[in-house]
This record gives sequence, structure tokens and C-alpha cells, in this order.
Amino acid sequence: MLSASLDRLGTETAFEVLARARALEAEGRRIVHLEIGEPDFATPGHIVEAGAKALRDGYTHYCPSPGLPELREACAEHLSRHRGLAIDPARVLIAPGAKPFLFFGVLAVCDPGDEVIYPNPGFPIYESVIRWAGATPVPLPLTEDTGFAFTAEALAERLGPRTKLVILNSPANPTGGIVERGLNAEIARVLAAHPCWILSDEVYSEMLYDGEHDTIASHGGLLDRTILVDGFSKTFAMTGWRLGYAALPEPLVEPITRLMINSFSCTPPAVQLAGVAALTGPRGEVDAMMAEFRVRREFVVTGLNELPGISCVWPRGAFYAFPNITGTGLDAKRLADRLLDEAGVAVLSGTSFGEYGEGYLRLSYANSLENIELALASIRGLLELDVAAAG
Ligand SMILES: Cc1ncc(COP(=O)(O)O)c(C=O)c1O
Repeated sequence: MLSASLDRLGTETAFEVLARARALEAEGRRIVHLEIGEPDFATPGHIVEAGAKALRDGYTHYCPSPGLPELREACAEHLSRHRGLAIDPARVLIAPGAKPFLFFGVLAVCDPGDEVIYPNPGFPIYESVIRWAGATPVPLPLTEDTGFAFTAEALAERLGPRTKLVILNSPANPTGGIVERGLNAEIARVLAAHPCWILSDEVYSEMLYDGEHDTIASHGGLLDRTILVDGFSKTFAMTGWRLGYAALPEPLVEPITRLMINSFSCTPPAVQLAGVAALTGPRGEVDAMMAEFRVRREFVVTGLNELPGISCVWPRGAFYAFPNITGTGLDAKRLADRLLDEAGVAVLSGTSFGEYGEGYLRLSYANSLENIELALASIRGLLELDVAAAG
């Protein structure tokens, strides 16, 4: 018998679709992978070297659970430079990825009966961990007409006496939408009257195509209520290293450290020293990666808008296109399944990110232009076949 609580724990469909795609490849099929959310670039050389040197230097044992002081300081310094926040390094914790902070952030503040407002469509782990904690998920719909953001009124309507936590994500997965400074100011006004915690997932903060990143933590005293989560996976193409950090409200530092001690003990110190090199070293390879993502974004969005039944707004951050597919007459899951099975293109249905993702697909453009071109041609082939069959 398994624990009944497991029924409340969701998952991330990207890993399931990847497994299905790999099974098809094992049968000899050619599949273009646009499902998984990780940069297809090598980790910059100086970061790899810093990690390798640390291993050679003997950083191969346990280290302090909250993180190495040098990385906590580098993160605080980075938040000050990049976001203008004055953060005591003692409030910065390090974990294997940003994900543990989503999990522990919710676990640390939520009890059964509490409500958590979260973006939908949004990163599926939010809803999963809210349910796991026994709290009630309250979706905040992200809409195409607001550039996949939302209005402060929509947030205000969902706030109530039981709201314990509001989760925000900008730039956003899966939509590529961002929360602008003006909207953050309005959100801060709305939240000023409401004593809840905020979890701001900013793992794509340095992957922007226009404008500057703005964090809710810089508005109206909210720093002291915000769990600001960032990481190394996306910006530095370090998904497999597993390294993330959070700047926490002071009262949450000890409880979340305790959750860390109870689970993973500490983050590998050599990986942390690679993180110091990432934050303090040259940015050339990161800039080149973003320049390449910009070219692909142009290519994939233009290409999608030329397909029958599909329209796609410009993602403003991250590396995902989120096309509207309602004109195809198919629902999102059915189209995603058919694209994999019949066209050899692995994408995710918008509904993998929540009910408000119906009518959309997510394509990760972390793949070469050549493969993206092949994918677009294969999608066109399937859609035109359908139109021909219907006619
Ligand atoms: C919005 C969002 N938050 C967090 C994560 C997890 O990142 P990490 O690899 O640092 O755990 C992801 C990864 O896809 C993401 O898209």
C-alpha cells in the first residue's frame, strides 16, 4: 500500500513526453525535441573549470547546509547589482536547483485549509506542491490579451482571508510573458493590505528580449515577505549541475534550512564554487547564448504564425513559444499527441501547465535552427493533411 498523500502529488509532463519521445527513437523514429526546458548549450568553460578545480582541491565532502559563505555572498551581491536589492547574505540559502525552494517555500508556510494563488498556465510544480501541502490552489489565469500576464484586479478578486501565499513567475514558463514594473507596483498596492507571503520565481530573470527585469521584492516593503527564487540552470546552461538559491524573509531562514537538513543535507560544494565562477566571471558565452535564442525566437514565432490555424504572440522572456492553436479545431493534448506520433515533433500541451492552458501548445526553442525548421515543416504537413481530409 502506498501513502494516500501521493495522490495529491503531481508531476512535470515534460519528463513524461521526453520518455515517450525516447521510446519512439528507440524504435528508429526521428523525433525533434521541443519539449524539454533546458538550454542546448554547453555550460561556459570557466564555470566547468571552476567546478573541476574544486573537486581536485578536495571539495568532495559535506559542507554547511545553508550553503558556502562565498556563494551566499556572491548571490546577495548579484541581487544587489541586478535587482537593486540590499540583501544580507545570511538570508540567502543554496539548494540543488531552484525547485527545492518551490517545494520548501510552500511547505514552510502552508497548512491544510490555506489558499495559495498561483499562475495558470504555469510551472506544474506549483499546483503539485500546493496540493501536497494540503492547501487549496487558487489559479490566477494568465491571458493572451494581457501578454500572458494578469491584472491587479484579477489578483485582488482572488485574495481572501485564507490566502497564505501568492506565487508569481516572471519571465514565465510556459508563456514567455513578463510582469512589468507598473503591474508589480499595482500588485504591491493590492498586497499591502493583505498579510500573505509571496514566492517570486525568477529563474528566467536574465533571459529577457526587451526591457529590464523587475522583481516584486523591490516594491513597497515586500522584500520582507518575499521568497525570491533564482538559479543557475537556465542563465548559465547548468541544468544538470543542480544549483539554485533563494533570498528569504528572515523568519523563514531557519525553518527552510531545517527542511534542507532533513532532505538533502547540503548542496555539493564543488558545484557551489562553479556557481561563484558563474556569477563573478566573464559573461561572453551567456550573452552569445541569448543572442542565439533571440534569432531562434524570431524564426520560430514567424514560422508558427504562417501555419494554418495557429497564431503566436512574441515571448518576452525565457525560451518558449506558446502558440494559440484553437484555429486547428483540435484540443491541446490531442494535437500534442498527434504531433509526436504522426509528425515526430515532441511538444507539450498547454494543459500540461494547468486548465487555462487549453488552446495552446508549448514549444521550447532550445534546439538548433535546422531542427526548428524541420519541426515547423512537419507540423505544417500534419495540419495541411487535416485540412485536406476535412475538405
Ligand atoms: C518556472 C521554473 N521554475 C523553476 C524551475 C526549476 O529550475 P531548477 O533547474 O533550478 O530546479 C524551472 C525549470 O524548468 C522553471 O521553468
